[in-house]
Amino acid sequence: MSITKKSCCGTREAAPQQQNDVKEFVKKRYADRVKAPGMTSCCGTASGSCDSAVALSAGYTEEQLAGVPAHAAEHSFGCGNPVALAGIRPGQTVLDIGSGAGIDVLLAARKAGPEGHVIGLDMTIEMIEAATKNAVEAGLSNVEFRLGDAEDMPVESGTVDWIISNCVINLAPDKAKVFAEAYRVLRPGGRILVSDLVTHGLPETARKSLEAWAFCVGGALEEEDYLAAIRGAGFKSIPDELARLAPSLAGKVSSIKIGAVKF
Ligand SMILES: C[S@@+](CC[C@H](N)C(=O)[O-])C[C@H]1O[C@@H](n2cnc3c(N)ncnc32)[C@H](O)[C@@H]1O
Repeated sequence: MSITKKSCCGTREAAPQQQNDVKEFVKKRYADRVKAPGMTSCCGTASGSCDSAVALSAGYTEEQLAGVPAHAAEHSFGCGNPVALAGIRPGQTVLDIGSGAGIDVLLAARKAGPEGHVIGLDMTIEMIEAATKNAVEAGLSNVEFRLGDAEDMPVESGTVDWIISNCVINLAPDKAKVFAEAYRVLRPGGRILVSDLVTHGLPETARKSLEAWAFCVGGALEEEDYLAAIRGAGFKSIPDELARLAPSLAGKVSSIKIGAVKF
């Protein structure tokens, strides 16, 4: 089944009639993963190990992991540590797009402090339930989790200081909509810091499989298309925070961190 097409602007999007298939497949995959007892890899398959090794390899520190409930650390599915890079200050409002079991929301909540507010957004109800339990266990009252789609965020315009997201936007069929929504909800001067996967000449066959999509590879954009999508939403600068980790998948996929500002 073909699930991608090249748009007029060069970015890859799933064809509209297939977008729901992608989302339903992804929801089911992550619902299963968060209910599984063991840890899984970044977007990947269950490893069966029940520790925080994968979270450590994604870039979290021992100290960060010790400060969150074990379930949140063991069910971390990201490909980076965006909170470590984001300059979140006390009192600020933060939005985590695709918050999963809540690890980045909980870490951001400590930076935002009691006067701040952190919203975790996820389209998978099982993730929202797990994250809510983890926040209660962590004793944090400055967080909330909202069920919703990154392409149509249930968040008021111009209310957010920082957006973070960890290995999620590659899963969205319409990245342009996600970045447009991100731009809409940020206050002027608000910033976005995203960890995500991008590709470098990924074979078309890898783009035609829902399995590969849920693995965070099939829906990942070519790096230049990803940057174009951010700029296309109105973000005027992508500062120095852009950095690449070691390429994986024989140089076809790599993890990047991108920061951008709404002027
Ligand atoms: C790879 S996991 C990452 C979870 C979390 N950011 C972390 O680092 O552990 C992807 C998450 O994004 C959510 N997601 C995928 N597409 C989404 C969309 N269009 N809108 C909202 N959430 C989405 C999934 O339900 C899942 O919880």
